[in-house]
Amino acid sequence: MRVESSRYIEHFGSVRINGVQRVLQLDSGAGGELYPEEAMGARKIGRDTIEDIEHRMAIVILIKNEELKIFEGVISAIPHECLMIVVSNSQRKRVDAFKMEHDILSRFCRFTRRQALIIHQKDAILAEALKQANYTEILDEKGLVRDGKSEGMVIGILLAMSQGKDYVGFVDADNYIPGAVWEYVKHYAAGFSLAKSPYAMVRVLWRYKPKISRGLYFKKWGRVSEVTNRCLNSLISTNKGFETDIIKTANAGEHAMSIGLAKMLTYGSCYAIETQELVSILEQFGGVLPITNHAAAEQGIEVIQTESINPHLHKDKGEKHLLHELLLPSLSVIYHSPLCNLPTKRLILDQLVTRECLKSDEEPPKVHIIPPPQEANIQEFSHSFEGHLRKYVVPEEGGFREQFIGTEFGRTAAKVRRVVFTDLDGTLLHPLTYSYTQALDALRLLQDKEIPIIFCSAKTRAEQEVYREELGINDPFIVENGGAIFIPKDYFSFSFAYDKVTQDYLVIELGTPYTKVRQKLKKAEEESGCRIIGFGDLSVEEVAQRTGLNLKFAELAKQREYDETFEIGADKIKMQSVLNKIEEVGLSYVHGGRFYDAMGGNDKGKAVKILAELFKQKFGEIRSIGIGDSSNDMPMLAVVDIPLLVQRPGNRWEELEIANIYHVRGVGPEGWSEAVKELVAGL
Ligand code: GDD
Repeated sequence: MRVESSRYIEHFGSVRINGVQRVLQLDSGAGGELYPEEAMGARKIGRDTIEDIEHRMAIVILIKNEELKIFEGVISAIPHECLMIVVSNSQRKRVDAFKMEHDILSRFCRFTRRQALIIHQKDAILAEALKQANYTEILDEKGLVRDGKSEGMVIGILLAMSQGKDYVGFVDADNYIPGAVWEYVKHYAAGFSLAKSPYAMVRVLWRYKPKISRGLYFKKWGRVSEVTNRCLNSLISTNKGFETDIIKTANAGEHAMSIGLAKMLTYGSCYAIETQELVSILEQFGGVLPITNHAAAEQGIEVIQTESINPHLHKDKGEKHLLHELLLPSLSVIYHSPLCNLPTKRLILDQLVTRECLKSDEEPPKVHIIPPPQEANIQEFSHSFEGHLRKYVVPEEGGFREQFIGTEFGRTAAKVRRVVFTDLDGTLLHPLTYSYTQALDALRLLQDKEIPIIFCSAKTRAEQEVYREELGINDPFIVENGGAIFIPKDYFSFSFAYDKVTQDYLVIELGTPYTKVRQKLKKAEEESGCRIIGFGDLSVEEVAQRTGLNLKFAELAKQREYDETFEIGADKIKMQSVLNKIEEVGLSYVHGGRFYDAMGGNDKGKAVKILAELFKQKFGEIRSIGIGDSSNDMPMLAVVDIPLLVQRPGNRWEELEIANIYHVRGVGPEGWSEAVKELVAGL
């Protein structure tokens, strides 16, 4: 996609509102650019970037008694990578419209090999989950979710949060043009890729809204939007003292938010929602009223407005609906904002009285405001939902669905503690640079949530201690491919069996001493007639040269206690016979990407199992997560509840035969970070 650069920006406290950016090209091709686009006034957003954001985005489709044919067109236009969440308030009595929507979505997902969630707004389990989450403002006197598009949207946000999505976008189900729906989602993804803040919102302005009068007339602005924009601009102008017309999307039903932003905002009931989102941003971050979240304010809140290419054609619900259900509540939330001063109040009253929405002595009725979704206890919400999820996931049958239920939602089971076991080289550490920088933010997330991070690597104790100290990790760790488990003294408050005590640790030894491993390797070398070059045969400089480690780390890598890292000085044909010989002399081996490791009897999986048992004693039920990149992680990935595989250089995954393994996009720490963020979202 190619989007015009933002030329006109308005700042209001920590809020940055970008002027409308036109989309120049819906698909800008796969190749790179030969000239700096910024200078040309346009930004190209690559297909990969868009796809990556779509993967992290839930699209919430709101529906109430719409034409099923149109609904079918809408769902077929949602890009494959997005998670669809349909929130319906359609009738169930006489003709069960919701059942038909459910069937259509289910069939569509079965044919297209994708998964979706569909829920009825009046569902009793949903209402109960909201009660459990202590988020009851959204419930009516019968204890069910109130009617309203806005209420449906908030349910969508909560579900997107519980699914660990980073973004949530909204689409109406009465859109006649599937191409327009597809385009809106592309706008959302492109907008987020341009945003400089994680607290971002993308709002789409339709280029044309065709009307049928004598022929088809392509009208540029909706009347309601024109008035709401004017009033909202007046609110900003009068507070700043500088006139602006920056807001062009005050009623934009087609919009998306990062979850970080969505969960902080308040929402106006029914159709006041889109205007109230902007009012809420201005109130919370405009600097006129007290700032509600300083961390977010520091990063800034960004509003991006884009103009679509496809025309917008939807069902016309009549004048009364437009004025009383859309315009009146939209202007009402501006009117009742503490930011609204006299000139804007006068403008609003004038507009409403002229359109006969109000009598001249009346004030706009107050709109019910829904509190920020972050006030819901999302853990409780997910937890009460978990057991019933089968009811809401489509398609109903197939391994696909099992996978979704077993992991996607399973990961948010609130009361179950997570323990992360991670490989280092090629996984947490970049395979080429050994850098962990890309994973730092995700690592901090785990630490904030007090989720133990267990290194489980071929690296030595001495090497791992450096990383533990640098990253502030104090959890147990598994060294040299499961050779030993080092547990900080006093980490577990109960007693357990261990083999030795050092100054800082209780050590469970599972491997054969290094000298013995070396002796056996020598034997294999003699018997095979091929050179086996272990770290023990090399100087520090040579280890550094072969591994790319610096001298300090090369020295630490040589301080081996349980396993030997080696290369084989033989061609490919002889290689296998040497490896067979190594097994014959009583060792096992693994391939870690660049080198082999030989050891006696230990593997990562055995060590992980022992530690997992200790964590069960500590926490009760746990869910173990294993992250690796290569075949030497197989034993670890085979015993954890959620095995994750990051990519190796060249963006490919090692082929591992493990059931239910999750292939995570991103090489080493990049994939690590993505996976961890997904896993802890909503916890
Ligand atoms: N889940 C749910 N619950 N969906 C609802 C409800 C409800 O109570 N009420 C309406 N919807 C669905 C409709 O079926 C439709 O798909 C979508 O929400 C929008 O509702 P419409 O009634 O068609 O709204 P509109 O076309 O007048 O207004 C749209 O555009 C405005 C901007 O011009 C909406 O998106 C507005 O929110 C927006 O401000």
